[in-house]
Order: sequence, then structure tokens, then C-alpha cells
Amino acid sequence: MRMEIKKVGVLGCGLMGSGIAQVSATAGLETVVLEAEQSFIDKGFARIEKSLAKLAEKGAIKEASAAIRARLKGTTRKEDLAGCDVIIEAIIENLEEKRKIFGALDGVVKPEAIFASNTSSLSITELMTSTKRPQRFVGLHFFNPVPLMQLVEVVRTIATADDVYESAVAFGKKVGKVPVRTSDKPGFIVNRLLVPYLLDAIRAYEEGVGSIPDIDNAMKLGCGHPMGPFTLLDFVGLDTTYYITHVMYEEFKERRFAAPPLLKRLVLAGWYGQKTGKGFYDYADPKNPVPGKFV
Ligand code: CAA
Repeated sequence: MRMEIKKVGVLGCGLMGSGIAQVSATAGLETVVLEAEQSFIDKGFARIEKSLAKLAEKGAIKEASAAIRARLKGTTRKEDLAGCDVIIEAIIENLEEKRKIFGALDGVVKPEAIFASNTSSLSITELMTSTKRPQRFVGLHFFNPVPLMQLVEVVRTIATADDVYESAVAFGKKVGKVPVRTSDKPGFIVNRLLVPYLLDAIRAYEEGVGSIPDIDNAMKLGCGHPMGPFTLLDFVGLDTTYYITHVMYEEFKERRFAAPPLLKRLVLAGWYGQKTGKGFYDYADPKNPVPGKFV
């Protein structure tokens, strides 16, 4: 039977976790966010308040921000998630860390609750085996910035029960997203198509096809993309993209998923994009990013 989700637990209050908690509370659901330290909760909740203020200013939310905020609770105690109907994990992209937290919560959270991961690269199947509820385990892959991006990929494994999967699809709709159905293969739908495109942009640059701003402008103005590939790479994070390429190349062994040398060099240099202030562009002045010259 399809489960009605009323109380949501979110693991991690970083960029993705705070965004997921925000859309959940905005949809009228009681939402509890688990973090390792109170300071991470404070930082994430400050981000949510800023985002809600912006959306309120534009008339994009119907309710007062304070009422939405009142449905959100931060905690450092796992026990506070015991009564949640769904747990959505959005912690660091590390298999062992994710398996550890799912395993620890399995004995705390009620057995009928659905467990979900927001991972963009790890196998949902490998995560589900850290719990005793593989049939109640799915992927719920949201996109950055979560409050603005309309999509959620709902990922099923060979073990996911039909009613659990349908509950997860209904939950995606409830939080205001358009769910797409996909299965547990590296990259799901979006990254399966997006990653080779982003890597091709780097290869085109390495081959002298165009400069970074020219390739970005070409795809923005010629194809109507909101961001060119290098701006998007810096936005997603070069470390994140590099990590995804490894998982995809490992599975498919196809060149189109292999990281070009320049991507690896930028990651080795610690230039991960917007979050470190430098990537394909330099963000010393965030309003006027300066493109790098690497070839
Ligand atoms: N909450 C509320 N408002 C926000 C916000 C947030 N989290 N983030 C940005 N905004 C606001 C901005 O402040 C801005 O407000 P004003 O209009 O008042 O200035 C407004 O949204 C629009 O932003 P911008 O003017 O900066 O730029 P934009 O019109 O291009 O929109 C965007 C921003 C929605 C991010 C758009 O550029 C876009 O769609 N970019 C592509 C993003 C994308 O592809 N994301 C997916 C990445 S892949 C991924 O996430 C998967 C993975 O597994 C790695």
C-alpha cells in the first residue's frame, strides 16, 4: 500500500540537504535535519532563510517564511528521526560514510519508513545493503539549487517494492518537483547525458576549438542553455564531476565517461570551481568571473 509521508528526516544540512529540507517544509511537511554539529545546522538554516526570503520577495511561496521555518527542526541526535516516514540522505559523497549512517539509523527509525539517498554517483544497490530494508530503499536525486530546479530522479533497484517506489514518486510531486523514473545505473538519466557533454566541452577546449567564454556563450546563446558548460562545471564542482566520471568510467569503460587531463589537473590543484573561488573561472570578484587560460 502506498505510504503517506507526513514527517521527513534529512541527513546533512549542506547545500543539497538544506535545499531538500527547505522544499519539504515548504510543502507542509514536518522536517527534521540531522547533522554532526550544531554549527552545520546553523549554517544550513541561515542558507534556507536567505532562500525563503528571496522566494517570498518574488511571490514564489504562498505561506509566510516563518510558518515554513517553524516546521523545520535541526538535531544532532539520531533518535529524533525515529518517527520519520522517509529519510533522505544528503551527506558527503562517500560510500563508507553513507553506509555507516544508514546502518546506524536502520535500528532507530521505524521499520516501515522509506530510506532514500540523494547520491548522484554511488550505487543505490550498494547503499541499500547497509540496512535490513532493501525493499524500502530508493534514490531521490535532486538538483542544485534544489528550491529552483524542478526535477527529481526517483531511482529504483532490483529490490525496491512497487508500493515503496510509488510512494517515493508521490513524495517527489508533493515537494513540488517533477519526478522522473529511472533505475540504478551510474549517472541515472541526467548525469548519463550531461557528464559526457561537459567532458566534451573540456576536450574541445583542450583541442583549441574555442576559448572558455566562447564555448560557454556558444552553448548559452546557440542552444538556450541557462549556463555554458564551464560555468556549469564550476557550479556543480570539479571535484564532484571528477568523482562521477570515475564511477561511470569504471562501470561502462567508455572513453566518453573518462576525465580529460585538464579536469584532473584542476582537481589536483584544488581548484574545484565556485566553492573554492577558482576553477575554469576565477571568482575573486564573484559578479565578474575571469576565465582561465590553460592551453
Ligand atoms: N533559492 C532562492 N533563490 C535563488 C537560489 C536559491 N537557492 N539560488 C539562486 N536564486 C535566485 C537568485 O538570487 C536570482 O534572484 P534575482 O532574480 O532576484 O536576482 C534568481 O534565483 C536567478 O538567478 P540568477 O540570476 O543568478 O541566474 P539564472 O536566472 O540563470 O538562474 C539557475 C539560476 C536556476 C541556477 C540557472 O542558471 C540554471 O538553471 N542553471 C543550471 C543549473 C543546473 O543545471 N543545475 C543542475 C546541475 S547538475 C546537478 O545538480 C546534478 C549532479 O548530480 C551533479
